[in-house]
Amino acid sequence: MTGTAKLLHEGKAKQVYATDDPEVVLIRFKDEATAFDGKKRGTIEAKGPINARISSILFTYLEANGVATHYLGTAGERDLLARRVTIIPVEVVVRNIAAGSLARRLGLAEGTNLELPVLELYLKDDELGDPMINRYHVRALGLAADAELETMEEAALRVNALLAAHLEPLGLRLVDFKLEFGRTAAGRLLLADEISPDTCRFWDVRTGEKLDKDRFRRDMGGVEEAYREVLRRLEAGQGG
Ligand code: TMP
Ligand code: ASP
Repeated sequence: MTGTAKLLHEGKAKQVYATDDPEVVLIRFKDEATAFDGKKRGTIEAKGPINARISSILFTYLEANGVATHYLGTAGERDLLARRVTIIPVEVVVRNIAAGSLARRLGLAEGTNLELPVLELYLKDDELGDPMINRYHVRALGLAADAELETMEEAALRVNALLAAHLEPLGLRLVDFKLEFGRTAAGRLLLADEISPDTCRFWDVRTGEKLDKDRFRRDMGGVEEAYREVLRRLEAGQGG
């Protein structure tokens, strides 16, 4: 990509650039890390390239299993090509094990197994601290059509089943994760954004060790090593 490409959007972890094709964007993954809606900031060495690679592997796996995503391919080492979408400002979280805000909100010990996956919706708005919402809010605020929300929820639960089954043999337990969806100009709904240790909780199946952004949020150290370990296992799962 040339230095003159138009920056369409800049978020906390990624930049989105225009390409020659109006329906395709280049997503550049930054090394900067934030947590708690941007209140905590730092840099994780090599995070951009690692998360670009992890997202690429996971989107490829999901596409191969019938999930419609924005992913088109890799470009530079920290860049992905993706279909251009307008992000729907509803974050879909799926949880298999109580951790983070759910553990706090419901007074559950972190690590408590949930009998069934729990799906939650959050309004994507840092200034408001991404408040939890439900489908009535989505409807009342016109954030997504009913059919879109239904597709998002179904896709999120399917992504959960697919990812959990893929990760478990690699020694990674999928505790919870956040997805974002977008619409193409033609109105097609696609899984978008990223899937990485920034947006998922991964625990080592054997030791319970945290291999995700909680190491940064909680100042545990070994952040880059954990992200690299997730990538190493995913690459092993691809057969190299
Ligand atoms: P939480 O326990 O903090 O609500 O987070 C649930 C999951 O969603 C966890 O895997 C981290 C991810 N997440 C994001 O990717 N972005 C966010 O803004 C939030 C709040 C959570
Ligand atoms: N990514 C979000 C933020 O930057 C939330 C988090 O991961 O804690 O605030």
